[in-house]
Amino acid sequence: MDALRIRSTGKPLEGTVRISGAKNAALPILCATLLSDGASHLRNVPRLRDIETTAALLRFLGRDVRVDAPEVHVAAGAEVRPEAPYELVKQMRASVLVLGPLVARFGRAKVSLPGGCAIGARPVDQHLKGLEALGCSIRLERGYVIAEGPNNGGRLRGAEVMFDVPTVGGTENLMMAAALAKGRSTLVNCAREPEVEELARVLNKMGAEVSGAGTDVIHVTGADRGELSPFEHAIIPDRIEAGTYMVAAAMLEGGNVLVQGAKLSDLEALVMKMRAAGIEVTSEGQDIRVRRFGELRAVNVTTAPHPGFPTDMQAQFLSLMVMARGESVISETIFENRFMHVPELQRMGASVALRGNTAVVQGVRRLYGASVMATDLRASASLVIAGAVADEETEVRRIYHLDRGYERIEQKLLGLGVNVERVRGAES
Ligand code: UD1
Repeated sequence: MDALRIRSTGKPLEGTVRISGAKNAALPILCATLLSDGASHLRNVPRLRDIETTAALLRFLGRDVRVDAPEVHVAAGAEVRPEAPYELVKQMRASVLVLGPLVARFGRAKVSLPGGCAIGARPVDQHLKGLEALGCSIRLERGYVIAEGPNNGGRLRGAEVMFDVPTVGGTENLMMAAALAKGRSTLVNCAREPEVEELARVLNKMGAEVSGAGTDVIHVTGADRGELSPFEHAIIPDRIEAGTYMVAAAMLEGGNVLVQGAKLSDLEALVMKMRAAGIEVTSEGQDIRVRRFGELRAVNVTTAPHPGFPTDMQAQFLSLMVMARGESVISETIFENRFMHVPELQRMGASVALRGNTAVVQGVRRLYGASVMATDLRASASLVIAGAVADEETEVRRIYHLDRGYERIEQKLLGLGVNVERVRGAES
């Protein structure tokens, strides 16, 4: 597997980085193309492994998909096979997002249960409960979810769905299913992430009526026909990719980075914590500038559903707090096993004590290069950020995960003055 080798320059990050389209917006939107038989056209799609996996899944389902990132074209193929196999779902949990569109459009779906993942159990009970409320019959058989519309594959019916926890994927799956259901659905206790709002914009372009996305109550009136219209859409910028470079910029005094195309309004919780730590974060037109002049102050962070502090920024922010003055307490409330970066950062000289879902970080003055690796995307990003400011050489192994979520990461880091290279087929 490939590794990233990073050699210390001793200098802070400086320069400009352009943010790619949001992976977590593109994935549900690609799944939404199943609701239409026409030719849809997505723009600003990042070149990432997860996009390729979704394209492979759509092709397996019978779609004609052309990925030429940042453009993707999807059209109906000759035949539909509403079945997502384990081999594809296990590569990417978000594959479960085909469940809602498939059963709403074709009356039937067979989708592998995703199983656990590196950061926790991640059940899909809320997706299934919601689909049942829309009239689906659901059964679990040999690791697969088999869903059927009312009366052996009939049209779904609008209903009220109350989520027990705000779930991003659950909210998206239900919005897509409700977009082709007969009548009006009300979804309560929804996830409020910007990617949910983005999916609502697309479903509205496709002819459904979705209102309230971005709040915790979403109303969906299904289109009064068997399918929705095709669409053209440019994906919003990736707020987590942006946040990752913003944090990297602040690791050393003197850092000065312009993050192009990132929306400050989608990053408020992170920006507030960065400012509390003494970092200057300002809007420059459509861009965000991050500058660090003096010492970093330790701040506490607790992850929460949007608009709270994103769990997908927890690992990177923890790396930042490793370099702060004083003690910071980082609590993870969304996923139960999301501190895999901690033992690796400790090997680089970080002082972090783990107590259940809380990490207590004592700032240190410097980090030392080491060979490290992580088994999830954001944990890997936090190690790269640490490696960029550590003494001597750091090798971040198994960057398979980084390639799932960060487009051209080494080129972007090189542009900010980091001495980094990809080592192909390194020892893992
Ligand atoms: C999405 C993001 C992921 C991010 C996460 C939380 C995508 C492709 N991925 O993942 O990057 O880390 O949101 O912001 O958009 N839960 C249940 N039952 C369910 C569904 C979820 O108990 O049926 C729980 C999960 O275990 C977790 C919490 O709800 O504790 C939030 O998960 P959810 O928002 O569903 O995450 P994903 O959509 O999988």
